[in-house]
Amino acid sequence: MCGIVGYIGNKSVNSVLIVGLIRLEYRGYDSAGIAVIDNGELEVRKEKGKIKNLENLLKIQPVEGNIGIGHTRWATHGEPSKLNAHPHIDCNQKIAICHNGIIENHLHIRTELIKKGHLFRTETDTEAIVHLLEQEMKRKNTKLLKDVIPSVIEQIEGKYAIVILSEYEPDKIYFMKDGSPLLYGKNTEESYLASDIVAIVPQAKEYYVFKDKEWGWITKKEIYVFNRNNEPVTIELEKVKLQAIHLDKGNYEHYMLKEIYEQPDIFRKIIEARTGEKGKVRFDEMKLSNDILGRITRILITSAGTSWHAGLVGKLYLEQFARVATEVDLSSEFRYRNPIAEGDTLVIAISQSGETADTLAGIHEAKARFCKVLSFVNRTESTIARESDAYIDLMAGPEIGVASTKAYTSELIHLLYFALYLSGIKWLTPREEREEIFNEIRKLPAKMEYILNKADQIKEWAKRFKDSKDFIFLGRQYNHPTALEGALKLKEISYIHASGYAGGEFKHGPIALIDETVPVVCIAPKTSVYEKMVSNIQEVKARKGKILAIVTEGDDQIPEIADYVFEIPYVPDYLTPILTVIPLQLLAYYTALERNCEPDQPRNLAKSVTVE
Ligand code: AGP
Repeated sequence: MCGIVGYIGNKSVNSVLIVGLIRLEYRGYDSAGIAVIDNGELEVRKEKGKIKNLENLLKIQPVEGNIGIGHTRWATHGEPSKLNAHPHIDCNQKIAICHNGIIENHLHIRTELIKKGHLFRTETDTEAIVHLLEQEMKRKNTKLLKDVIPSVIEQIEGKYAIVILSEYEPDKIYFMKDGSPLLYGKNTEESYLASDIVAIVPQAKEYYVFKDKEWGWITKKEIYVFNRNNEPVTIELEKVKLQAIHLDKGNYEHYMLKEIYEQPDIFRKIIEARTGEKGKVRFDEMKLSNDILGRITRILITSAGTSWHAGLVGKLYLEQFARVATEVDLSSEFRYRNPIAEGDTLVIAISQSGETADTLAGIHEAKARFCKVLSFVNRTESTIARESDAYIDLMAGPEIGVASTKAYTSELIHLLYFALYLSGIKWLTPREEREEIFNEIRKLPAKMEYILNKADQIKEWAKRFKDSKDFIFLGRQYNHPTALEGALKLKEISYIHASGYAGGEFKHGPIALIDETVPVVCIAPKTSVYEKMVSNIQEVKARKGKILAIVTEGDDQIPEIADYVFEIPYVPDYLTPILTVIPLQLLAYYTALERNCEPDQPRNLAKSVTVE
């Protein structure tokens, strides 16, 4: 996915665009560029690599103006390079566009336009659009983009959020949107376009999230929006709630570390918001009635990556507390397997960003089968939230680090609250039991802080094992997903190969990997499967694997066997995955630092995978 920003106002457009692009860098950082109307002329500056490189270029080759567009890229078509960086321009170098998404039929368009004499400079799908705009302007003998955008929309297939700057219309920025996020922001004297609201706070005071197939243009003070039938649309602006303070790293070196340490306070906020009177759970924003939820006989969870790991824990919660049969699918599998799902099936989509393409596609599959869709999202203005029948806000605040941490534990606690909510509707869990669970949940923030205060122990693990070639993570039941999550965290930011396995699967093959060079993280808190995990640890020991155990405080058995032990406070089985993941988040972070990897922007990754 990529980040797009556009600005018309009274400020120097460079600074506004660069600040916006820095805020969007989590969406991709292969290359970046801007296009500006400088003294009536279209000027483009772009550079490979991070936005810093673009800033350095602008010092050498400055541009000035009050209107412009910018882009930070996660390469889909065409390698990360200066040439393939956006913006892309037409043959006459009068029109520039930035694009987030994929144009499925770009090769066909490119071939046809080359026959008509268009000169393509890059390998990108995006370039086909700007030449198509140019061709349509020629065909219709016009210099106005509003005369050609509708016919271009008709000809392109795929997902896009596009902003367009034309030297022929130096006071406008055009936009077109279908399938990729784009929003409009404004204050009295300025207009913005952006992929995400984080790019334009605190300047923008009101905003509007475009719907699919909407297009139009903005000027300094106005916006003109048209729908898929090219009819004018009257938009309703919403007040911007997000404050810039949430986007600041504060005293932390990286967003990832800040977001790991935010978890206790985020849990305090969530507990306060979700705990109603008499053991009831509150979901004020969820627009699914108890009547509908009471009739659900089956749940299908669809999600990706870390959110899929949360779904695996969610299954255990929903089956244990709400007694509803629950399946969990990777979104990229769910959408292609022709799932069996009818009206009595609730499809749950879990997505921090609310923009993951495969998860969004799963929602469409579900709605085609008349299932109700409930999404758990951290971005309530996201496409997934808007296209679901209802959503639950994860309340974790903006998560900028590419490796998801606070959103994961927020997903877990919200899935537990939802299971308790359903059990309440079905009168399954007595109020006293629910109160007991609420009491245990209330203790979590302090227990999280207890763990975070012992981060130095994990720093030692990172120092000792930073050069390992392989890491194995083992866990059972509630902590099998923790093993998967711990492995994902480590591999995605330190680039060490890591795999997570269910402890019971260990002897079915993975044990062959063990020798004295392989650290094995064994997640073995005091739960109903503790003794089984002790057996796993013995098996690793017998094969000289290095054992790093996460145990419950006071455990006097595993410390006798393991090489390294990290203690977490006691919690009931079902709360262990919320605590055991925290030392693993820290392990991934400090290992990345030991290996001089960039934790917030790991190579090849982006924060949200909005392409399939
Ligand atoms: C998490 O650390 C990863 N960066 C990634 O797996 C992420 O969880 C996945 O892409 C799903 O994202 P979503 O929750 O925004 O849908």
